[in-house]
Amino acid sequence: MANTFSLPPLPYAYDALEPIISKQIMEIHHQKHHQTYITNLNAALAAQSVALTSNNIPQVINLQQKIKFNGGGHINHSLFWKNLAPNGSPETNIDHAAPSLKTAIEAQYGSVQKFTEAFGAVLLSLQGSGWGWLVSNGPGGKLEIVSTKDQDPVTDKVPVFGVDMWEHAYYLQYLNNKASYVEGIWKVLNWQTAEDRYLNGVEGSAVLKL
Ligand SMILES: [Fe+2]
Repeated sequence: MANTFSLPPLPYAYDALEPIISKQIMEIHHQKHHQTYITNLNAALAAQSVALTSNNIPQVINLQQKIKFNGGGHINHSLFWKNLAPNGSPETNIDHAAPSLKTAIEAQYGSVQKFTEAFGAVLLSLQGSGWGWLVSNGPGGKLEIVSTKDQDPVTDKVPVFGVDMWEHAYYLQYLNNKASYVEGIWKVLNWQTAEDRYLNGVEGSAVLKL
């Protein structure tokens, strides 16, 4: 019997990211979209377990894409909720919350402003659905801005933070104005989580219990 996954609670209220991300978007995004990835992941893993037991290799192979898509959707959204914080909270202040990461960003990109411009350009150049990520190659390591298609997760680097660029993440509020959504994201970015993942890996430190 395969393990089953369940929807992790948001670390803040549904309306906590207003006015940057509306309560309506957060409710639908978390309760419907994220839940659906989990439901489909659990079904695919259960089917995989049956297929493995019966040595049905074609079925095992057939299920791989479903596991990748829905498992990625679950992982990506779990990371995303934690790398957001209420507008104006101390966590959204890079100086206060992420001194080490800020120093690394400045050393690599020249300034935080230049970094956010470069990151925004990657987000806006994504075609179709996907994610933009700041990744590092290990604790305190080299930074890189990457994008992934659909729900492909980052598995070979540490995802310091990610931004969901699926239309379901912004369309109800921003319509086709992706640039405005991207601009707003910086106001609700949880730099404390980013700092912790940058220094301690994706699970963060035991102290912060992210
Ligand atoms: Fe999403």
